[in-house]
Amino acid sequence: MNYRIGIVRGDGIGPEVVGAALGVLEAVGARFGHAFAKEELLAGGCAIDASGEPLPEETVARAKACDAVLLGAVGGPKWDTLPSHLRPEKALLGLRSALRVYANLRPAVLLAPLREACPLKDEIVGSGFDILIVRELTGGIYFGKSGRTEDGQAAFDTEFYTRKEIERILRVGYEAARKRRLRLCLVDKANILESSRLWREVNARISAEYPDVETSAMYVDNCAMQLVRAPGQFDVIVTSNMFGDILSDEASMLTGSIGMLPSASIGEPGAPGKPTMGLYEPIHGSAPDIAGKDIANPLGTILSVAMMLRYSFNLNKEAEAVEQAVARVLEAGWRTADIALHKVESTTRIVGTKEMGRLVAKEVQRSRI
Ligand code: IPM
Ligand code: MG
Repeated sequence: MNYRIGIVRGDGIGPEVVGAALGVLEAVGARFGHAFAKEELLAGGCAIDASGEPLPEETVARAKACDAVLLGAVGGPKWDTLPSHLRPEKALLGLRSALRVYANLRPAVLLAPLREACPLKDEIVGSGFDILIVRELTGGIYFGKSGRTEDGQAAFDTEFYTRKEIERILRVGYEAARKRRLRLCLVDKANILESSRLWREVNARISAEYPDVETSAMYVDNCAMQLVRAPGQFDVIVTSNMFGDILSDEASMLTGSIGMLPSASIGEPGAPGKPTMGLYEPIHGSAPDIAGKDIANPLGTILSVAMMLRYSFNLNKEAEAVEQAVARVLEAGWRTADIALHKVESTTRIVGTKEMGRLVAKEVQRSRI
């Protein structure tokens, strides 16, 4: 089958990590006989430079016509002083919203070869962890009313959620839990926030439809603590846009580096046999300080490609081939600088962004799946 993929290389290290990931995608195409057509899309700071806006209308229209979109990262100091509607981050929010990808899946898994890069002690990590953070992505405080008072002496942002938004993200969480270890933890601040109390109310009803899934609820401050105290206790975490943003950065560090974490943002499933629109991006940002040096870790983006194959195209074998290729490259001792910081073994070999991409692509080509 032919797939059409929108490519937003973006700013900072975005173009580098996307370049490496596209090499892996090409290897998937060659190994498994698929054609992936690429549609280059401008968004973020580079779009501001080229057209004056972070998310040109043309980008949105062309992205919508694709089967899925792969995004590197947007933003950088060059555009930080622009007014809020012109900031590169607006492109990201605008794209998520326009593509209606309300469910952001962020898996944090400790891969065995990266045990040394995890900052937690052995007795805390135990037999490892495999957490899926399901973050609501197109609502909440990111999209609520915000502004300044007339005299400029105060500012506000609003956490706003409808029952419908809560219900649909919870369902994504429960369905995911059914394919995993059957546990779901709702993370909120229901001791303070009315919106969180609505989440709990809706969850009481939805959880009854999934009696096979064990449900719990936790305040977000406690969750932040529990993630570093006993990460193995979590299976699926479902939470709001803002809390998911924060907790996923925390969880990413447990896997060794923020450079490792992929993400998939999906909406309603496509028609039977058709792709499901999704936006795939590593959870790290544009890291302008290391941009252009060929040292960024492309694995988060490469693993995002694996998620694209699985969630948008239902190509499960191909997704596994990419994930196994990443594991094999790590097992062989190859590391980018960010995951080689802790205890460099004699077998560790540090490589740059491009080389890491080539190594994974080579493993995909050799895959026997
Ligand atoms: C993320 C990022 C974005 C977010 C920023 C860059 C707008 O931190 O994807 O986690 O807050 O969603
Ligand atoms: Mg974030």
